[in-house]
Amino acid sequence: MDLAGEVAKGLGCELGQAAVKRFPDGELFVKIESPVEGEEVVVVQSTARPQDENLMELFLMMDALSDLKASVTAVIPYYGYGRQDRAFERGEAISSRTIAKHIQVSAGKVLTVNPHKEHILSYFDVPTFAVDAAPLIGEYFKEKGLKHPVVVAPDAGSKGLAQKVADALGCRCENCEKKRLGPGKVVTSVEKIKLDRNDVIIVDDIIDSGGTIVEAAKALKPMGAGSIRVACVHPVLTGNASERILEIADELVATNTIKTEYSRISVAGLIVEALTNK
Ligand code: R5P
Repeated sequence: MDLAGEVAKGLGCELGQAAVKRFPDGELFVKIESPVEGEEVVVVQSTARPQDENLMELFLMMDALSDLKASVTAVIPYYGYGRQDRAFERGEAISSRTIAKHIQVSAGKVLTVNPHKEHILSYFDVPTFAVDAAPLIGEYFKEKGLKHPVVVAPDAGSKGLAQKVADALGCRCENCEKKRLGPGKVVTSVEKIKLDRNDVIIVDDIIDSGGTIVEAAKALKPMGAGSIRVACVHPVLTGNASERILEIADELVATNTIKTEYSRISVAGLIVEALTNK
């Protein structure tokens, strides 16, 4: 079942219907088909690849819902364009803020899962919340009954997430040191990490080209890893990222903020809980 269906089931509400078509020139057409006048409507839309298409569909859908006097909560499980969270150089568009401005035109409330940087929530003027999938990743590996797991963050930025996974799993957490040379090009050092046939679980928020994970796995393997497993919240998985990872790792698992064959951990329960409590 898709994430929107799981969320509807969890909320005990109807899964609304909409027609989405393309005109011959490529423009999108959206029509809300369910009776939503005056209702509270939750729109679940990740803005992953194809990002621009998914965003346009989201904007059209929320605008049509507003015209029907529905009150809209936007659930954006994967917040695409989120990694440009500031202007790194003068003149750059802050895409995470641009998207926020457009979403809040029609959404009265926004919910997302593990945004790449928490401060992007402040780009919204409407109530905006994030839920954390780290404990779910920990629970997933707990059920695997690994004997000596060690959670490893592939860089300093994912240390907090990895620590929460380790806490849920009740094990040690370590982190690699990563230097980015360019898009998809990184060097990783792991000298300080001591392993003795441990089951290593490398955890990142996003896996995109897979470069960060592959470099971390390559560096950790000769250090005494018994097995290498890889987990992330958002499996962006561009190009042959998953194949490259599975050449060196024993497992790749992710949440279903983006639907892939590796999305075996559902965030539906987290979303339902947050929507019910906020
Ligand atoms: C970076 O700060 C993120 O946490 C991920 O490590 C990064 O987005 C992964 O990108 P890639 O898979 O292309 O190395």
